[in-house]
Amino acid sequence: MALKATNPTTTNAWKKLQAHFETIKAQHLKTLFKSDTERANDLTVKWDDFYVDFSKNRITTETVNLLVELANELDLKDAISKYFKGDIINATEGRAVLHTALRAPKDATVYVDGENVIPEIHEVKKKIENFTNAVVNGDHKGFSGKAITDIVNIGIGGSDLGPAMVVDSLQYYKNQLATHFVSNVDGDHYQEIIKNLNPETTLFVIVSKTFTTQETLSNANSIRAWFLESQPTEAVSKHFVAVSTNIESVKAFGIDEENIFPMKDWVGGRFSLWSAVGLSISLALGYKHFESLLEGAHKMDEHFKTADFNENIPVISALLTVWYNNFFESESEAIIPYTQYLNQFATYLQQGIMESNGKSVDRNGNKVNYQTGTLIWGEPGTNSQHAFFQLIHQGTKLIPTDFIGYVNSLYGNKDHHDKLMSNYFAQTEALMNGKTEEEVLAEFEGKTMSKEAISALAPFKIFEGNKPTTSLLITKLTPESLGKLIAMYEHKIFVQGIIWNIYSYDQFGVELGKQLAKSILDELNNTSKDGKHDASTQNLLAFYMNNC
Ligand code: F6P
Repeated sequence: MALKATNPTTTNAWKKLQAHFETIKAQHLKTLFKSDTERANDLTVKWDDFYVDFSKNRITTETVNLLVELANELDLKDAISKYFKGDIINATEGRAVLHTALRAPKDATVYVDGENVIPEIHEVKKKIENFTNAVVNGDHKGFSGKAITDIVNIGIGGSDLGPAMVVDSLQYYKNQLATHFVSNVDGDHYQEIIKNLNPETTLFVIVSKTFTTQETLSNANSIRAWFLESQPTEAVSKHFVAVSTNIESVKAFGIDEENIFPMKDWVGGRFSLWSAVGLSISLALGYKHFESLLEGAHKMDEHFKTADFNENIPVISALLTVWYNNFFESESEAIIPYTQYLNQFATYLQQGIMESNGKSVDRNGNKVNYQTGTLIWGEPGTNSQHAFFQLIHQGTKLIPTDFIGYVNSLYGNKDHHDKLMSNYFAQTEALMNGKTEEEVLAEFEGKTMSKEAISALAPFKIFEGNKPTTSLLITKLTPESLGKLIAMYEHKIFVQGIIWNIYSYDQFGVELGKQLAKSILDELNNTSKDGKHDASTQNLLAFYMNNC
């Protein structure tokens, strides 16, 4: 069944939100806190090991109610049921969207084309488990009889970012296998990685849903050629495995059928780390941790499916994006984890969020007359405080920011953790409260500065505050809690797409550049001279060709 396709701006709730916005837009968060002493509790959701405080957002409980009214008017509940049931909600590609089925328990049932997909998912998981155990225990040896020491994941986009982010984020839980990621078609990328590797003890995992991606196939071919410089052809089967939906092309590449970990076309690349695409995660962390990651995601799925919208973390979080994007006209969102482990988290979410919701045609095929996808960026705190926080505090742009923090550090260094977390708490307070002129002037008291000098300097030291933040406080970074966190953002993406009336699960926007690059490559290789380019591109190509 198709998703409903209503322009959100034509709903009654949207009109009410517009009127409500006029009453909220000039209000300072400090005033909102003063006028409602229950606000901090009322606008916080406590769920499992998550404490999510939405109260430092420029909203009231009425805003949340109106946003929920909007979600109801747009049939979000029905859309969620279609999403989990396997309806063809990726209509432009004619596919279901079932990354949630990948983390569903064995006794679940999810039908695609009349067939329950859960048994096959668990068969592939068993294959991942057996292979992981064999490699980690040293039972699966390289061709010359040595144990595997290094894993190289060769993939790009969703076949790289998810596994790379999870392995980096959960490095505390890692086993002895060193894990590397090759993604860029820039030949220097793979060269830098293989230069320190021993082909006799390295396992290469080629990950490509389509097995047609230029970057991945070029890297896989070059790496295999390097491997064969020192190893016999028979060694390939011990050192190369692949993850793909395109079994025939993988076999044509020379990989044995038993070394293929299949995936289904109803798993979108940017949501695929839960599938066999997560093989490198399983190898790096051990299967048990991979399983915990999936269990965490499943718990978030259940929360998302069953919690009232007013208490539903992904739903509120998505509706707030709509509130800021479409009413406050803010353009970007920052995601700031207060743990160095989540260093790659914002980069990972950039694909998830921007490839999904960077769309300008609605589900009726019409150009939208409102803003959609937000720009996503971020870096861990405290480093980011010393980099771009100036702009969030005193710049002209409104940047709603998610602060992700953990109650416990992994190595238990309390002194450092308290310092880290004091910054986490301080920043959201500072962003909310700002610093008034009065407070600035009070700081000058007792200083030997003229009145004129003080009043000349004071404006630069004022912080207007009223900068919205959401604080996510989680007990501890574990495979399970990371699974919950990733799934939370996945569902947030889904809800945004439903509200904005766009298709979140295709990515035609990445095709045009790919096509042009292919024909320009033919010109660079002198196999085609037909290129018709604008003058600028022509000059750039000439400069490149004359100087390389
Ligand atoms: O860049 C577009 C894209 O199709 C992504 O959506 C995908 O994650 C990536 O390319 C890699 O695709 P594949 O896994 O088929 O190699």
